[in-house]
Amino acid sequence: MAKKSATAFFDTWQTYRKVVAANYMYHVEIQADIERLLRARFGAGKVSFLDLGCGDAATLAPLLGGVTVQRYKGVDLSEAALALAAENLKFLSCPVDLTCRDILAALEAETELYDVVYTSFALHHLSTEQKAAFFRLVAQRLAKDGVLVLTDVVREDDESLPVYLTHYCDWLRRDWDGLDTDEKAAICDHIENNDRPETLTELQSLAAAAGLADAAAVSGYGWHRVLRFQRAGETVSRDAGTHA
Ligand SMILES: C[S@@+](CC[C@H](N)C(=O)[O-])C[C@H]1O[C@@H](n2cnc3c(N)ncnc32)[C@H](O)[C@@H]1O
Repeated sequence: MAKKSATAFFDTWQTYRKVVAANYMYHVEIQADIERLLRARFGAGKVSFLDLGCGDAATLAPLLGGVTVQRYKGVDLSEAALALAAENLKFLSCPVDLTCRDILAALEAETELYDVVYTSFALHHLSTEQKAAFFRLVAQRLAKDGVLVLTDVVREDDESLPVYLTHYCDWLRRDWDGLDTDEKAAICDHIENNDRPETLTELQSLAAAAGLADAAAVSGYGWHRVLRFQRAGETVSRDAGTHA
């Protein structure tokens, strides 16, 4: 049984790596946008990172090379992904803490403050109530002038969840032509059973209710968005314009 679930993880993870490598979810553009945001905001200053749903950290790792990382903590439910993250982050000379835990449980237990709370393509797995708790808990963990950088799929304001799921999977089946039929079916099964993205309006409203009233849409590529949240009145990144 344990062997089967480990194999299932690697099957899914290998497919996700193929999706990232083919740039179907715009990871290349998103990485460049986040790199610009981090450089504009922190320059050569030291930055502490809390990465929630870090997976194997493969897409964040190259960005961490461009800033001065003081400490990095990654949280994920998958031990197998965290083992890969340990490899991908071993170039960092700062303390690296990889914790196998649920995002909300980890936030509740967290006692440190962070300059950057980062989450990429993980928040859509939480329910709306859990997302509200996520924003509340993140607001408590941001250092002064700290920033929440949120990359995720976001529904259009006029798109219900079932309509979004149909649109996304139709697009994927049509355009992700580097995947075979079984791989596409496995991804669509995962999306239809697990993905619960919100609209931008709902995310901004949940964040504002948690005290993160200063939200900016950093960039957007179809449903794939980079959002930046911070407390009102704190440092505004020169690069966090609204062009999503
Ligand atoms: C699509 S992967 C994204 C990984 C990485 N952040 C990236 O952008 O490439 C989503 C990750 O979120 C993790 N995840 C999903 N729900 C979670 C939860 N409630 N608590 C912790 N990790 C979670 C999964 O295990 C998976 O590694």
